[in-house]
Parts: sequence; C-alpha cells; structure tokens
Amino acid sequence: MPYRKFGRTDLEVSEVGFGAWGIGGQAYGSADQQESLRSLARAEELGCNFVDTALVYGNSELTIGEFLRGRRSKWIVATKYSGQKPGMTATLEDQLRRLGVDYVDLYQIHWVPKDSGQSLYEELYRLKKSGKVRYVGVSLSTPADVDYVLDHTMLDSVMLPFSLLDPLPFLARARQFGARDLAVVARSSLKEGFLVGKYTPDTKFSDPNDQRSKWPQERIAAVVDQVEKFRFLESGHGSMVAAAVHYPLSFPQISTVIMGTMSVIQAEENFGRLPGGRLSEAELQRVAAMQDEMGLWGMRERILRALRGLTNRS
Ligand SMILES: NC(=O)c1ccc[n+]([C@@H]2O[C@H](COP(=O)([O-])OP(=O)(O)OC[C@H]3O[C@@H](n4cnc5c(N)ncnc54)[C@H](OP(=O)(O)O)[C@@H]3O)[C@@H](O)[C@H]2O)c1
Repeated sequence: MPYRKFGRTDLEVSEVGFGAWGIGGQAYGSADQQESLRSLARAEELGCNFVDTALVYGNSELTIGEFLRGRRSKWIVATKYSGQKPGMTATLEDQLRRLGVDYVDLYQIHWVPKDSGQSLYEELYRLKKSGKVRYVGVSLSTPADVDYVLDHTMLDSVMLPFSLLDPLPFLARARQFGARDLAVVARSSLKEGFLVGKYTPDTKFSDPNDQRSKWPQERIAAVVDQVEKFRFLESGHGSMVAAAVHYPLSFPQISTVIMGTMSVIQAEENFGRLPGGRLSEAELQRVAAMQDEMGLWGMRERILRALRGLTNRS
C-alpha cells in the first residue's frame, strides 16, 4: 500500500482509505457487523490506515468503535458533524463515546449550510485547539463551495466526489489545492458501486436499506449507460473497478481515495490489488475528451488546460 502526505499535516495516509457509510447498513443494504469487522481487519493487514464515517451512517461509528479496541494508534479516524441539534461540540462528545476514543484525527463538517458564515468553522477551530480533534475539514460538492473554503477558512482538508463521471469540482480547483497544500479526500469514486460495471439498466435494488432502491429506473439506466463509455479502460487495468480507482489516484493532489467496502472480498481487492495503479497520460486525455463529449465539463479547452501538468508526479 503506498502512502501519501495528508496536506500540510504530519499524517501519512494510505492512498486507498476505508469508506464506512456502507457498513452502517443504510447505504448499500443491511450490513453484517461480523463481516464489517473482518473487512476492517483485512484492510488494516493490507496497509489501510484511514477510515471515514459519520454519526448519520447508521451503526457505522459503533462498529468502528468495536473494531478500534486495542488498535487505536494504527488508524487515522475521520468522522463528521452533520448539523445535529445539540450543536457541534456536544455531538462530538457523543461521537467520541460511540467510537470509544479520546480524540478523532479528522473532524469534518458534513453539509455546510449556505448561511452559516464563519461560526461553524470557528467552533471547529476551537475543537482543534482543545485537542479533541487533531485536524479539521469539510465535505463539499460544488466549485463555489470550494472557493469559499479556499478564500475564507483555515481547514486542513476537503472531501469531494471525484470519479470518471464526476471530474468536477476537483479538476477545476486542483491547482489551488496543490498551492494551498490542502489535503483532498476523494469520495464516491465508484459512483456508489456503478463504476464497478456490474449493474445493468434493469438492475433493481430491492433492499429498502439500500439508498439506490429509491433511484428511479431511468436514473439507473442513465448511469449504466455513462459507465459503458469508459469500458475502453478495462483491458489496460484488468477491470472497471481498477480503472475507476486508478483515475483519482493519478492526481498527486489527492491524499486518499476512500472506497466504500462491504465485505472481505471487496477489502482484498480495494486495499490489496488496486493501490499503486495510475492512468497513463494518453488514457487521461481520452477520459477528458469523453467527459467533454458527455457534457461533464463546460469547455474542452478548460479541461485540457486543467489537466496539463496536474499529473506530473515529480
Ligand atoms: N457527503 C459526504 O460527505 C459523503 C457522501 C458519500 C460518501 N461519503 C464517504 O465516501 C465513502 C465512499 O463513497 P461511497 O460509499 O459513496 O461509494 P463508492 O466508494 O463510490 O461505492 C461503494 C460501493 O461500491 C461497491 N464496491 C466497493 N468495492 C467493490 C469491489 N471491489 N467490487 C465490487 N463492488 C464494490 C459496494 O456496493 P455494492 O456491492 O452494493 O454495489 C460499495 O458499497 C463513503 O463510505 C463515505 O465514507 C461521504
């Protein structure tokens, strides 16, 4: 497992991290806690040292708390404040109890309310000063939100969706992340399982605990259709899941790609076989052209300019 700098912090993070939304049992169907514990243990054996969770991820924090007993120092534990009524500080206390830890390594604001101003960030900085959290970040989705954070905050990290189907907002702001030495956590890089290439337009998600069961069938068919456009990557990487993960790993501004992992079999692949891979420059250019053709970007010139130099790993 290769490791990367986590922005300007002193953390060295595994380039593939454990996304723990699914093991809470409310994202991709019910979760088997014993299997989740075994998956986390296998991830650790394979060198994964970063886990991302949230209070709103069902049983996820409790399962991680159970897992961390006796191995706290081996893990960088990231969780989130999702706007709970008792407020950030009181919510963190509850989360520390659930996780069975004295501090979390990374505390992130999950969804920043539009009118929050600076007060939420100030509370985050106070928690950092208190030592209950080591580093602070935010989870975002649009370039405008990223701009606010770049201009008005002193955060250590941002979490963004970044996949073959979601090049923005990361690519539009990658230079600024690099210049600020901000850690970037890439999420949903498999497009919630779709980029693995195992679903068809007729796939039905029947488990009510699978959030994809609420997707209209047309949305499933549309995403499957988009995934097919990237099949050309499969032969060079051995599988679609490999290509999907090697894409964000091709950018040194990304500190870690967190992969939702539901089983030991997925852990073997996600933390054992996939780390270390990258797309070639030619593949990146072809991906960019395809994203442009699909309308995932505004202007072709902008995308090509943004790509130039970003993958230079010197
Ligand atoms: N707003 C936010 O802050 C936010 C939002 C979303 C996610 N996140 C974080 O990001 C993490 C990752 O994102 P994500 O959970 O959205 O999804 P993801 O990583 O794009 O996809 C995860 C799903 O892909 C499938 N999968 C994973 N590895 C596989 C493998 N090797 N082979 C076949 N299928 C595989 C599994 O579902 P199936 O087998 O059921 O298809 C898995 O649950 C989350 O766990 C969470 O920590 C944060």
